[in-house]
Amino acid sequence: MKKTIRDVNVNNKVVLMRVDFNVPMKDGVITSDNRIVQALPTIKYALDNNAKVVLFSHLGRVKEEADKASASLAPVAKKLAELLNKEVKFIAATRGKAVEDAVKAMKAKDIIMLENTRFEDVPGKKESKNDSELGKYWASLGDVFVNDAFGTAHRAHASNVGIASNVEDSVAGFLMEKEIKFIGGAVDSPERPFIAILGGAKVSDKISVIENLINIADKIFICGAMAYTFYKALGYNVGTSKCEDDFVDFAKGLLDKSKGKIVLPIDTHVAKEFNETSESMVVESHLIPSDFMGLDIGPKTIELFSNVIKGAKTVVWNGPAGVFEMEKFSYGTKEICKMIAALEGATTIIGGGDSAAAAIQLGYEEKFTHISTGGGASLEYLEGKELPGVAIIDDKCCCGCSNC
Ligand code: 3PG
Repeated sequence: MKKTIRDVNVNNKVVLMRVDFNVPMKDGVITSDNRIVQALPTIKYALDNNAKVVLFSHLGRVKEEADKASASLAPVAKKLAELLNKEVKFIAATRGKAVEDAVKAMKAKDIIMLENTRFEDVPGKKESKNDSELGKYWASLGDVFVNDAFGTAHRAHASNVGIASNVEDSVAGFLMEKEIKFIGGAVDSPERPFIAILGGAKVSDKISVIENLINIADKIFICGAMAYTFYKALGYNVGTSKCEDDFVDFAKGLLDKSKGKIVLPIDTHVAKEFNETSESMVVESHLIPSDFMGLDIGPKTIELFSNVIKGAKTVVWNGPAGVFEMEKFSYGTKEICKMIAALEGATTIIGGGDSAAAAIQLGYEEKFTHISTGGGASLEYLEGKELPGVAIIDDKCCCGCSNC
């Protein structure tokens, strides 16, 4: 068990808080504030307990000087101020006098946000390569480190692992705690039956997840374009569907060793072309015509999945069932949302990325126990990997208390 912000005294302390405010933006406007909203409980708790809060986050990937123009966290600080209904002082620097003076001038309940930590990547990739001087410097600005950036936990960067290695107290925020509880809990000790639903375009992206979950889950539903590689492994014609020929043998091996754990779609919505106006029809999975491509699962598959999922106590879903961005092929993804939402007494988790975006876009945000804020991080967690940003957080002692 990891220590959390509840386990440390933040009263009048400078709390260095890593959040993941790597939010989607279009023309300088934030298109989803979900990651900011999810971090509010930790920020509010720190402020309510008289901390001086210094926020760190990255935004996008900063590879050269020119990238900085569109990667400033200034609009994010503004959004956070609106959500908190409180001034958030934005410091347009990541180090130096402006930063140090601002921190020194803070009073209890003040909050400041530094500029994008990845501005330190030009030159020298200091943030991304976890430069030891940078981690030490950022740590020297405060007293306690709170890591609430689950979305970045699969990175060992200066602003998470670097700071944590140079402070006495390094604890989780509430969002991090929740992510560890639900995603970590599903992988480590799921209540059974445990069903994993894996979709998305490529088997190659999900190999490690499937390999890990095949040993843990009671059933794995495979959907999305990934399914066509499995069909090919079964000797079906997949027409012009997306299929990874290099992974057909892998899929075959998995089907052999899965002993019936893997459940594949039995019908599929196929179209002549990759657009919504193209001629389309639902066919049985082994009857895909040569000039059609599969873009969604069909109603018989939904019926099959619904029967198998009945009584599940833990469900983890990662990856959409079809091309949900196109209304015509969003049926399978919507039905999976409905199917999971209808389960009673189950812990239901969406492992971030596209499936989280789909559930939110389709209006099912409130229907799941937990929707992860991590894309790559939740995937690596489901792969059974240790996440450096989680590993570096202080453990509670063996009796579960914070200080004996
Ligand atoms: C994410 O959006 O997955 C995280 O913020 C990590 O971003 P990165 O992939 O650019 O490191």
